[in-house]
Amino acid sequence: MPLKNTNIVSAAQTKFGALEGVTLREIFSEAVNKATIDAGVPKKDIQAAFIGSFIPEMLIHQGHTAPLLLDFAGLKGLPATRHEAACASGATALRAAVMAIESEMYDTVLVAGVEKMTSVSTSGATEALAAAADDQFESSIGLTFPGVFGLAAVAHMQKYGTTEEDMALVAVKAHKNASTNPLAQFQKEITLEKALTPRYIAWPLKLFDCSPISDGAAALVLTSNDKAKKYTDLPVKITGSGQASASMNLCDRKDLTSFSASVEASKAAYKMAGLEAKDMDFAIVHDCFTIAEIIASEDIGFFRPGEGARAVRDGVTALDGDRPINPMGGLKAVGHPVGATGVKQAVVAYRELIGDAGPNQVAKHDAAVVHNFGGTGATCVVTVMRRGDV
Ligand SMILES: CC(C)(COP(=O)(O)OP(=O)(O)OC[C@H]1O[C@@H](n2cnc3c(N)ncnc32)[C@H](O)[C@@H]1OP(=O)(O)O)[C@@H](O)C(=O)NCCC(=O)NCCS
Repeated sequence: MPLKNTNIVSAAQTKFGALEGVTLREIFSEAVNKATIDAGVPKKDIQAAFIGSFIPEMLIHQGHTAPLLLDFAGLKGLPATRHEAACASGATALRAAVMAIESEMYDTVLVAGVEKMTSVSTSGATEALAAAADDQFESSIGLTFPGVFGLAAVAHMQKYGTTEEDMALVAVKAHKNASTNPLAQFQKEITLEKALTPRYIAWPLKLFDCSPISDGAAALVLTSNDKAKKYTDLPVKITGSGQASASMNLCDRKDLTSFSASVEASKAAYKMAGLEAKDMDFAIVHDCFTIAEIIASEDIGFFRPGEGARAVRDGVTALDGDRPINPMGGLKAVGHPVGATGVKQAVVAYRELIGDAGPNQVAKHDAAVVHNFGGTGATCVVTVMRRGDV
């Protein structure tokens, strides 16, 4: 049965990038203020908060962030919980908020995600991010995330003939879309030649195959049907939500060319929404590395296994293609402050669905699928959203 009662009525993000001179709480507050006061939602209407944040303990030496952030954002006293699922932290917060509205426990809640990663060096961030993998069998012996996705790329290349150029084309598309997105970390187009420049991070992945290290926050307000019209004439409905997990340890995986949690979470979300992949007008997927976008486009059912790379080559996933993917630039070029990402993806889907994406607007925008995964796909959350009253 499709979810019936959950509406996104406002959505906002800060600029993503190296946000110097601002603290975690300030970045968080900026996103919250944009999604509440600036959007015509009084803070006094918010009844609870669900916050995605991955690893502030290692990045800024701060735990127990939910009450701290709410206090600073002028929401002191509300029930607030931090949700942690590595890079899927934001979408797990969103899913918990959806359950809270559907259960009628609350009628108006805040979902927000935040991370500040640039306070530490690249090696410090790499070490913190590695906590999302299996420490005993992987991280402690030197496997980093670029390394993990390098393995996935090699597997996809061997099984399907995907090339370094195919992956570079994902980066070219991402940077092109982000060039007209003022909130993106990188707002410059790149050529295919530049994307192929051999500065290897973890072979075969090069600099432009990787998402960057970023700071940023994003926020949404969700309401029940009764309350939605108070804030907007154009709510976006969340009609399906799926979540799945997979083994952390890659040794237990049969195949690295697909992430089973992505497949299972997508199936569950489409089933709940009563729709199929072909009904989706566009997708927002977790492109932490270029190969991750190609694999996700297959796992969510946009293309058959092994056909994701061809879709990129043929321009099918471009902003003006038949099945646009990451029309505002994705993690690759907009940035990836991990705890914020899942919420930011929902912000992008909302803006596209209501026709508020400016030069990044996709042509057809009635239904969207949003895919956010954590670690090596050990957690995946997929959300189906539709415009208006459905
Ligand atoms: C790829 C990576 C190692 C580069 O870090 P780095 O070598 O320290 O690079 P620097 O920060 O010194 O930046 C050097 C230049 O490259 C650019 N740059 C950095 N990361 C970039 C990226 N991912 N894409 C494009 N350009 C990038 C910087 O803007 C800078 O450009 P400039 O010289 O014009 O100012 C780092 O971004 C990274 O680890 N990314 C992956 C993060 C990750 O694993 N996330 C979790 C995913 S599951």
